[in-house]
Formats: sequence, structure tokens, C-alpha cells
Amino acid sequence: LLNSLSQCGIQTHLLKRLNMREQLIKKAEIIPIEFIVRNIATGSLSKRLGIAEGTVLNKPLLEYYLKNDELGDPIITKEHIYSFEWAAKKEIEIIDKMTLRINDLLQGIFRAVGIKLVDFKIEYGRVWNNSKGVNEIILADEISPDTCRLWDMKTDKKLDKDRFRKDLGNVIEA
Ligand code: TMP
Repeated sequence: LLNSLSQCGIQTHLLKRLNMREQLIKKAEIIPIEFIVRNIATGSLSKRLGIAEGTVLNKPLLEYYLKNDELGDPIITKEHIYSFEWAAKKEIEIIDKMTLRINDLLQGIFRAVGIKLVDFKIEYGRVWNNSKGVNEIILADEISPDTCRLWDMKTDKKLDKDRFRKDLGNVIEA
């Protein structure tokens, strides 16, 4: 998936796949925010706001969560991000655009194999570009069934980590 995204112009941390278990990546300064995109309501959105599970959203919904395990990764707003300087306004503008573009690209990739991309989580980092003398934002995360919700297009069967989270069985098959 990261290769497909970089072919579409998304800068990622991936340099090279070394083998089945290892990859060489760029060392990035991770921005302490989880960016979540939702196309269909489920999970914590349905729980917190009472939006019916499976409601198709009019447009992708972008949410921000602080990466802090002790606090249970609380949801935050852009104002929190700017107040506490977790990222600059310019960076968030770039990331918002990249995230929506990644959502479009991933939705297309999954749709082609009969799968709906319900929601996903993604993280970004800063890497120093020596020739330009600036920090650049790159996608610095995995994209996998652990970090995405994927439903079968026809049956809405869950094909992601929710099988494990909700003890639905058939984890390997999914
Ligand atoms: P949520 O509905 O539990 O907030 O999850 C939204 C999406 O983000 C879902 O695809 C799972 C993913 N996610 C992670 O990858 N890591 C996390 O720590 C959390 C809370 C969610």
C-alpha cells in the first residue's frame, strides 16, 4: 500500500522492503497526533455521539487524537494542537490535504477488490530535507487491518482487527 501511495505522489517513510519482516525506513520526528478519517460511522464515533452504526457520512470526517497512552489517546481539536504547539498550522494544512488524498487513493484500491474502507488511523513525521533546508511532512505509519476498518462491499462482513477486538472468529481467513 505504501508503494502504491508513493507512486501517486504521497511522500512516505518507506525506503525499501528488505524481506517479509523488515523494511528500511526514514527516521522521522513523529508528530504526536493520530489522524483518523471516517467514511462510515462506527466504533468510537457511534459510541460517543450516538451516530447509528453504518451511517454513510456526507464527506470524510477528519478527527485528531493526542498520542498519549496514559491518557487513553483523547480526542482533541485543531485549537488544542496550535495552543500546545504539537504541530504548526502550516503542517496541519498539509497533513489535512494529504490525509484526504490518501483516503481517496485507499478507497479506490480497496473498492477495486470489493472492500469498503470504513475508517483508518494514520500518523505523520517530519524529516529534514537538506537540499531545501526545510522540514518536510511524510506519512510515517503502517496501513494495515490493524489500523483500518475494512468491510466486505456486499455483506458488510468485517475484515479487519474488529474480528479480533469483538471476538468474531475467522481472523486468519479475514
Ligand atoms: P475508533 O472508532 O476506535 O476511534 O477507531 C477509528 C479507526 O482508527 C479504526 O480504523 C481503528 C483505528 N485506530 C488505530 O489504528 N489505533 C488506535 O489507537 C485507535 C483508537 C484507532
